[in-house]
Amino acid sequence: MTTSKKPTIFSGVQPTGNLHLGNYLGAISQWAVMQEKYQSIFCIVDYHAITVRQDAETFRQQILNTAKVYLAAGIDPKEAIIFQQSDIKEHTELAWILNCASARMSDLENMTQFKDKSTAKGENVSVGLFDYPVLMAADILLYGTDAVPVGDDQKQHVELARDLAKRFNHDFGETFKIPEVVIRKEGARIMGLDNPKQKMSKSASPANYIALTDSAEINHKKIMRAVTDSGSSVTFDKDNKPAIANLLTIYSLLSGNTIKNLEHKYRAGGYGDFKKDLAEVVTDFLADFQQKFNAISDQEVRELLKHNAELVRPKAQATIEKVKKQLGL
Ligand code: AMP
Ligand code: TRP
Repeated sequence: MTTSKKPTIFSGVQPTGNLHLGNYLGAISQWAVMQEKYQSIFCIVDYHAITVRQDAETFRQQILNTAKVYLAAGIDPKEAIIFQQSDIKEHTELAWILNCASARMSDLENMTQFKDKSTAKGENVSVGLFDYPVLMAADILLYGTDAVPVGDDQKQHVELARDLAKRFNHDFGETFKIPEVVIRKEGARIMGLDNPKQKMSKSASPANYIALTDSAEINHKKIMRAVTDSGSSVTFDKDNKPAIANLLTIYSLLSGNTIKNLEHKYRAGGYGDFKKDLAEVVTDFLADFQQKFNAISDQEVRELLKHNAELVRPKAQATIEKVKKQLGL
């Protein structure tokens, strides 16, 4: 990976819960489009996932499944490097160094995701959950990343990675590249089917999301039951019709139809036909996706991850060497 002249992108997803259409449309499908133009590194961020308790047996399988999701979404293992975060100990090593040298308590206290998650969990919040954005910065900075494609909810974390890199460079000498955040225009924030004011989330109730593993029947039910807005016109208006705007976004991204075309198609009004057709579009997508997912074996994935750890390790080690030198370690 050191010989490539292409700019580097880095991104990751936590191997927990049910990956859903929000993850796919906001992040992973975007990676598949970018992989040709960039040296692409896609991480399964298992150290991020242990900020909350995981069941070991389920977790082991979720890690493999997340790699399968990347592959089924069109990430080409010949173009891009898919690897497991905990295989490369330099991630945690750099996180510790950044904790000490660059990150401040006030930086982390300002993170909106931590505020939301910690309020939801009450007393039982791990130090790791608080510190997670620093580990994320380490992930990104280890590989000289140029750009980080993520959904809208991760923007603040990538900005922190930029700030930590700049601070470190200023205090200890030029070391890190400053990464850019890449957020797609539509789909960066897919909303919940049961509540279009909140993002689609794997920690919400199943009525909130379409999991990438949902059957045609379940998917159909969820879409027909998705909340809609008052009135009956199928028009894209995020402020006044957030539910319909969200469903139109999903429909448009999965079918390749523009929102304008879809508005025209359903101009006669009424949500019934619109939802029925959308359910069909999502079902077709899921069938194709699941066929690809099911064709990949656990063993194949284990071998790929093992092999790829060796591809990324030299760069991670080289960065850590440089950082330690700057600090006198
Ligand atoms: P996570 O599931 O939190 O590990 O998120 C993995 C990736 O999916 C990140 O880039 C998120 O920004 C993105 N993502 C998660 N939920 C959504 C959503 N509802 N809409 C768009 N992108 C999302
Ligand atoms: N924190 C991200 C999330 O929960 C996942 C993540 C970890 C990540 N490290 C990263 C994303 C580095 C992009 C780059 O969605």
